[in-house]
Amino acid sequence: MKKTIIQLHSQYTTGTVDPRIFGGFLEHMGRAVYEGVYDPKSAHADKNGFRTDVLNALQNMKYTAMRYPGGNFASGYHWIDGIGPREKRPVMRDLAWQSLESNQVGTDEFVHLARKMNWTPMMTVNLGTGTPEEARNWVEYCNSQTGSLYSNLRAANGSSEPYDLKLWCLGNEMDGPWQLGHVPANQYAIRAQQTAKLMKDTDPGLELVVCGSSGIDLPTYMEWDRVVLEYIGDLADYISLHRYVGNPNGDSLDFLAVTNSIDKQIEEMDAVCRYVQARNQSKKRHYLCFDEWNVWYRARRAEHMDGRGTFAPHLIEEEYNLEDALVIAGFLNSFIRHADVVKIANIAQIVNVIAPILTRGDEMLLQTIYYPFLMYAPRRDGMALLPIVNGPGYTSPSYGYVNNIDASAILGDGELHIFTVNRSLNQSAPVEINYGGGKISSLKSAELLTGDSSQTQNTFEQPGQITNQPFKAVTIREGIANFEMPPLSIVALTFNLD
Ligand code: AHR
Repeated sequence: MKKTIIQLHSQYTTGTVDPRIFGGFLEHMGRAVYEGVYDPKSAHADKNGFRTDVLNALQNMKYTAMRYPGGNFASGYHWIDGIGPREKRPVMRDLAWQSLESNQVGTDEFVHLARKMNWTPMMTVNLGTGTPEEARNWVEYCNSQTGSLYSNLRAANGSSEPYDLKLWCLGNEMDGPWQLGHVPANQYAIRAQQTAKLMKDTDPGLELVVCGSSGIDLPTYMEWDRVVLEYIGDLADYISLHRYVGNPNGDSLDFLAVTNSIDKQIEEMDAVCRYVQARNQSKKRHYLCFDEWNVWYRARRAEHMDGRGTFAPHLIEEEYNLEDALVIAGFLNSFIRHADVVKIANIAQIVNVIAPILTRGDEMLLQTIYYPFLMYAPRRDGMALLPIVNGPGYTSPSYGYVNNIDASAILGDGELHIFTVNRSLNQSAPVEINYGGGKISSLKSAELLTGDSSQTQNTFEQPGQITNQPFKAVTIREGIANFEMPPLSIVALTFNLD
């Protein structure tokens, strides 16, 4: 394959990379909470019932913001059911996933877990069946000094000090007809505005995410966002967007080009934010919170989403392959390239439910999509650079023209981090990094992720088929770096700069 040249310049920055784009999402759904992170009966359980094997694996991924407790679950959840003595907590029917919720994990357990894991809690209030006042009461429970009803309740449950949770979502996917309590945009806008006002009156330091379009195919795409943002105005800080992608036709090259469409979705949402800012004549700029994203298409039939009235059912347990890992890297590249507007992003989800980690009894499996996080997370600090990529490419039927190589770059402290994906199914790709405004002096570290076929998976029987490996085949001459990427691969590199 002809060489791909990636041109970068230290002055061509797009914005500081917000570490919160490496966020996760833990929903009370299927076996995410119960049997996933929390399983007091497991041989791996710590004294609080959390699975230490799963927590250790999650720790390596260095998640930042952790969205909780849903998802669709949040739209029927009453937080008060999940606090207080465990034996008194009610078992509730969860209508979103037709499951039983035992409430053995609730706000206090989640905050305890988040602290242990160094996550920033990102709480989603119930704007489906809940009220603005219920949401406000939750903020009081979490953030107010003792001396009032809900803050005293928190103290009675073990924490006299406020939890000080600053990041909150005003409901979940309220644009979707599947959502409990779904309403048209103008009605959600009123609900969200009232809730935001009460929540910020309770704690003025909150950062709020308002529900935006949960998919690009919905008839209300963009118009929902305009209506909601215009009405809520300065009370919201971020607008959410969601995206699940897949390869239902088995066309891997087409699938790998989906990154084009992710870029486009981000740019379209940003266009609405800018339009509304101008139209409202506001100084406030709304930023993007990509708070659900992943590959999800195999486990998507009705039977995968129906818990049949049981506790911790197997729901949407997608099994991932090599090409999915490349698409995950493509999402991360897109977020980095748009660091000026994407401030938060949460892969959905973190364990068992469309997740990098699967459990089976006391066993644990690290799926292919686990590994891109190990490659990106240690290299995420700094300013995103604008990569100009010149090289061979192809036209995908669904997403248009793409380069064979997808790339992003971050300028750190005396270091340059490069992330590249070779979309080619069968050709290796020579890549040159041409960095202006500074000089690449040496390679600090690099890793490669690849495999024999786009369909290769890690399984409980054959675990470690796809993992990241050290990558040494990099040459540097006169400040220019060259390396060769195998077909279907991800490379992450850190260079020392002069
Ligand atoms: O992540 C699974 C589900 O997908 C979430 O609960 C919902 O918000 C989305 O539709």
